[in-house]
Amino acid sequence: MTVTAPLLEVEDLHVRLRTPRGTASVVNGLSYTVGAGETVAVVGESGSGKSVSVLALLGLLPAGVATVTGRALLDGEDLLAMPADRLRQLRGPGVGMVFQDPMTSLNPVLTVGRQLVEGIRAHVDVPKAVARRRAVELLGEVGLPGPEKAVDRYPHELSGGMRQRVMIAIALSNSPALLIADEATTALDVTVQAQIIDLVQRLQADHGTGVVWITHDLGVVAGIADRVLVMYGGRCVEDGTVDDVLERPAHPYTRGLLGALPDLAVARADGGLPDLATVPGTPPAPTDLPAGCVFWPRCPVRADPRCETEQPPLAHVRGQSRDFGPSLAHRAATWCAEDGGAPGTTEEDR
Ligand SMILES: Nc1ncnc2c1ncn2[C@@H]1O[C@H](COP(=O)(O)OP(=O)(O)O)[C@@H](O)[C@H]1O
Ligand SMILES: [Mg+2]
Repeated sequence: MTVTAPLLEVEDLHVRLRTPRGTASVVNGLSYTVGAGETVAVVGESGSGKSVSVLALLGLLPAGVATVTGRALLDGEDLLAMPADRLRQLRGPGVGMVFQDPMTSLNPVLTVGRQLVEGIRAHVDVPKAVARRRAVELLGEVGLPGPEKAVDRYPHELSGGMRQRVMIAIALSNSPALLIADEATTALDVTVQAQIIDLVQRLQADHGTGVVWITHDLGVVAGIADRVLVMYGGRCVEDGTVDDVLERPAHPYTRGLLGALPDLAVARADGGLPDLATVPGTPPAPTDLPAGCVFWPRCPVRADPRCETEQPPLAHVRGQSRDFGPSLAHRAATWCAEDGGAPGTTEEDR
């Protein structure tokens, strides 16, 4: 594979939110890349900043409440620095997003067909009838029963799962360069979920779409992701290929999340993987993050005197060559990697 600039390059993303309980540091120096055609799954407990981190990329956090810093280059253009109208232009063909809650993002007073047609025609100059045909086709592709009828329905006339599929159809309608899916298939049954994953993979094959897929479903991770990013306390605590992270997790938090995960190859062959495990204890409040390693108050290992005082850098897991490119690197931010050793090369050394 030739090395080209990644499609999405998030660098040192910070998000602070003003809350009644003080300033919440919700995202704290998040960096990752997504290559064209690549899928990065983002996992982590509720409250770890997954949704906020992607909403920030699209300028969708409430102004006056959120402070966002860092860079997020999409094809070299910084999403965080561009004017609002440029960002609007990019939404659709540049970035498609499926939100956790479809009711907040569908327009209640427009039929789903109208929303699809307007979305398509905002970016390509096609007659209404052509866009409508495409809308019906898309609704069928996301598994909506009776798409010819559904196209004329209003969001409130559809079930939650159907609305979710409409959102997915809208996000895919402009064949985006980047697709961000936030718990997109959580409410859907496994058959529909498989159908949607299939559809996304076809889009990736045809258009080189890069995908950021937030999920707590390991079946989805194993089914769709090339790489996994584990978030905790607004940071990436571990990232690497699916096989590295699921089979050789280095961070105590990742090991906790994976729990008693059966052998991945066996589980894949069975076609079933459990959801993520529950880690004992509670995550830190973003208004009151611990000093040192963000995980130490809950960590069963705590084997290094620095755990409580010094924040471990996101470093290559030992045994990994520092020449591994971003698509193969396996990194963890811990003083207590599985191999018991100190981290190898830091991000800054690369
Ligand atoms: N609009 C908001 N105002 C204040 N705090 C928020 C807001 N949105 C999210 N948060 C807080 O930010 C943290 C991360 O939330 P979120 O990104 O939704 O987590 P995740 O998607 O990983 O479950 C949580 O502590 C949440 O309470
Ligand atoms: Mg979320």
